[in-house]
Amino acid sequence: MTAPEIPSFFDPAVQDDPFEAYEMMHAQCPVHQLPENDLFMVTKYDDVKEVLTDPDTFSSNPVGRTPHVSEASAAAAKVFSERGWKRARTLQRTDPPVHTHYRRLLGRVFTNRQVTALEPRITEICHDLIDGFIDAGECEFVRDFALPLPGIIICEQLGLDATQYPLFKTWADAMLAPAQRVMTVEQAVEQAEIELEAQHYLAAEFEARREEPRDDLISALVHAHGADEEPFTMEELQDLMHQLVTGGFETTTGALGTGMWLLLRYPDQLAKLQADRSLLGNFIDESLRFDSPVAGLWRTATCPARVGDVDIPDDSSVMVRYAAANRDPDKFENPDVFDIERENASDHIAFGWGGHFCVGSWLARAELRIAFESILDRLDNFELAGPLDEIPHEFSFMLRPLKELPVRFTARAS
Ligand code: HEM
Repeated sequence: MTAPEIPSFFDPAVQDDPFEAYEMMHAQCPVHQLPENDLFMVTKYDDVKEVLTDPDTFSSNPVGRTPHVSEASAAAAKVFSERGWKRARTLQRTDPPVHTHYRRLLGRVFTNRQVTALEPRITEICHDLIDGFIDAGECEFVRDFALPLPGIIICEQLGLDATQYPLFKTWADAMLAPAQRVMTVEQAVEQAEIELEAQHYLAAEFEARREEPRDDLISALVHAHGADEEPFTMEELQDLMHQLVTGGFETTTGALGTGMWLLLRYPDQLAKLQADRSLLGNFIDESLRFDSPVAGLWRTATCPARVGDVDIPDDSSVMVRYAAANRDPDKFENPDVFDIERENASDHIAFGWGGHFCVGSWLARAELRIAFESILDRLDNFELAGPLDEIPHEFSFMLRPLKELPVRFTARAS
């Protein structure tokens, strides 16, 4: 009997609910080459960690290799080089020692101490957002909570006008579009034009902070260099902002939406959490493990390589599939069970692993913790307020954004 074929990741229904495909890959072909584009998808926990800790073999910066540039991405690059700033390769798109340099400079401006100082403000925003819908007895959780919380926070951190967060969301969508789906030339140019708007807006903000620094992240980035170092160029600043806006926004929105949806789907787990708040941290880790907001990211093989028992030719594209690794039965017992008391839930690699481990993980964790604390303090009797779309997530190769999540609830007596 031949093994059943792995379903196609180009099918929106599979990206939406990929867990059966992960199970099949774990059992049959833990390193699976997608027939549509030859990408090698790595799905086992140990293999993903191995790839992530070997940047010499699996590079985040394929510059100098055969360029895998499609007609669509060439058309988008032309928009930036002619009327904006062409892509520099910073931070996430670099390997050591260049990566180490960016990471060190970013470490100066992104500290855990700053996140702790931010906690009262995160609490205030959570309560303001809940105030906005509590009397109605229902909300569209993505639009009314999961989007605005990280949107307002990242805008305020950067020093941008937080009332404009829906515009930043449009920009973040355009910035992420090339990584989410295959686009036509027209679609790529359309998205590049939107990102161009962001580039020019941000350039003005950088210039203003160069002249007159304020107490915000943009000023810190503009002035991050030491006395004997060159300041970041405009291309570098644009690329760093690209990573902070996209990294700080959609990932946390996804995690908040998924966390809420899991509580609706597993009322027994919700009841446990309501009865024992000390489980909150583990609930957050288990949500990140069970349905990881960043499903996968890319590396490029710099030489002939081998992962598990699969040979990977030089210059191949490799996807580290964090979401599949977090369901690996060799690492997590009964991986498809959502269990907020799971002992090793925090071993998940939803924030990555190795040198590129998420810069914003402390901020994301603080947002998730305070968000669910506030929700559980003020709301009760949660249920879905309407049917979800047949395919509840937007199509994406990388993230798992929920389209919407209508929730009904009662207010808790204070
Ligand atoms: C639940 C929320 C989040 C998840 C699941 C997440 C996930 C990840 C993952 C998997 C990586 C590794 C990238 C790689 O290996 O190439 C990463 C890196 C990164 N994240 Fe996050 N992230 C989240 C929130 C944030 C936030 C709030 C920010 C910023 C404010 C942020 C900024 C970044 C940046 C700049 C990097 C690149 C770090 C480097 O290359 O050294 N992330 N994140």
